[in-house]
Amino acid sequence: MANTSIQNSTPSSMNKREQLTSKREQALQGGGSARIEAQHKKGKLTARERIHFLVDEGSFEEIGAFVTHRSKDFGMEKQQILGDGVVTGYGTINGRLVYVFSQDFTVFGGSLSETHAEKICKLMELAMKNGAPLVGLNDSGGARIQEGVVSLGGYADIFYRNTLASGVVPQISAIMGPCAGGAVYSPAITDFIMMVENTSYMFVTGPNVVKTVTHEEVTSEQLGGASVHSTKSGVAHFTAANEIDCINQLKKLLSYIPQNCEEQAPSFTYESANEIREGLKNIVPENPNQPYDMREVIEQIADEGSFYEVHKNFAENIVVGFARLAGRSIGIVGNQPSQLAGCLDIHASQKAARFVRFCDSFNIPLLVFEDVPGFLPGTDQEWNAIITNGAKLLYAFCEATVPRVTVITRKAYGGAYDVMNSKHIGADMNFAWPTAEIAVMGAKGAAEIIFKKEIDSAADHAAELAKKEKEYGDLFANPYRAAERGFVDEVIFPEETRLKLIKAFKMLENKVANLPRKKHGNIPL
Ligand code: HXC
Repeated sequence: MANTSIQNSTPSSMNKREQLTSKREQALQGGGSARIEAQHKKGKLTARERIHFLVDEGSFEEIGAFVTHRSKDFGMEKQQILGDGVVTGYGTINGRLVYVFSQDFTVFGGSLSETHAEKICKLMELAMKNGAPLVGLNDSGGARIQEGVVSLGGYADIFYRNTLASGVVPQISAIMGPCAGGAVYSPAITDFIMMVENTSYMFVTGPNVVKTVTHEEVTSEQLGGASVHSTKSGVAHFTAANEIDCINQLKKLLSYIPQNCEEQAPSFTYESANEIREGLKNIVPENPNQPYDMREVIEQIADEGSFYEVHKNFAENIVVGFARLAGRSIGIVGNQPSQLAGCLDIHASQKAARFVRFCDSFNIPLLVFEDVPGFLPGTDQEWNAIITNGAKLLYAFCEATVPRVTVITRKAYGGAYDVMNSKHIGADMNFAWPTAEIAVMGAKGAAEIIFKKEIDSAADHAAELAKKEKEYGDLFANPYRAAERGFVDEVIFPEETRLKLIKAFKMLENKVANLPRKKHGNIPL
């Protein structure tokens, strides 16, 4: 199917008003009805349909609808399609300004030409200057092959602006079709990636190149589908069952975050009621080695139904996501005792560090639920740099200046105690439940080391170990040693937690904290 079916032409017999009307109509047709039909057959919406469902009705204003490419090679000068494969413009979502680009796969496969890139760059600059989020709906065959290096330059122009915009305005990428080659790096620099299941994929080199180089046989889905990137690689933060679900999730995500780094997230009206949550009393099991689901704690504490998990199926030993507390947005990070006992490992550290930095960039207060037995031991972790990766999370918390509150529900052991938003690294309030155990390590391990001689020389080793374990446990497996020092501000009953947190975040709402003057820090990447 050649891209010649629709061309940029207006008969000279038309008067000026008719010319404009005709051009507008042409622009709306994109690559033409056959390609639109092909797009629908794949279960995909067109670029314009996606925008229609995303923004408030009637709010979208298009910019650059008549832009055409400048390529003259391979007969391209005869294939001019208005808009050149991307619809760009602005509109509102729930009344809030947003800039949107939506790649049109019906036009040269949504491939990125010089002018296609210029349209996106123009939008990014507007977003930065006017302080509103940028949402990219990606559906593209990558660099416009007919344009060569000009197209590569276009990508680099986008990457550069993605980086400049990072931390200035939220940038969200939805992947709704192919996204291959270097094209993946624009979404990767943005704050969040959402992928549509079964119809989207991302990879640096496709299955054919993989087969040639490594002799692996994989499908696009196996190599870079939504499932892979949301579970194994962590590239995607969210997945959506279909495009409408994706669009609805984009709207939901935006509802938790501010327009730019100078503003606060929108707050929702909230009337206080039932702040004492009896259900929290029984979540932590009596046996400290028994798992429980930290999501239950989060859901009891957050405003009903407000928890929106990020990276849900990746590094499940840590839970991160947005929620509301008394109508205000917060970012939550919680160790997950039901997975790897809640240990911190490489992926969990990366996942949480990235989330903490997003929240801090955009003034979203942080709430941490802590139940962590330490860092995951082993050669796999050490050889893959748990040191550097664990340091990412430490660094991210240390430099976060938003209001920061921690609740220690159970274990807070070793270096992980320091890392998980301890008072020492700048947390503003630190609460502990009576079940908290704040120590260098678990009582058994500690007794085995410091009472080794007594245990070895005792007639009954096991009985001596149990005795010493109890001795250490009585002394340290509680929150009171830390509370005596002020490392814990208050030991609270679980059912009081929601109320305490509402008050603490209210108390902290005008917090001002500044980092020392610097060009930028050097996070251990
Ligand atoms: C120009 C392209 C194109 C491209 C697709 N088309 N990709 N035109 N440049 N990159 C055109 C096709 O010619 C076709 O035109 C139409 O788009 C639809 O493509 P199909 O192949 O028919 O669609 P489909 O079968 O769904 O396959 C989609 C696809 C495939 C998997 C994306 O088109 C594909 O492999 N394209 C090339 C991908 C690629 O190698 N891109 C370069 C990556 S490198 P007609 O006229 O027939 O409708 C890269 C470097 C970036 O991007 C570096 C940045 C630093």
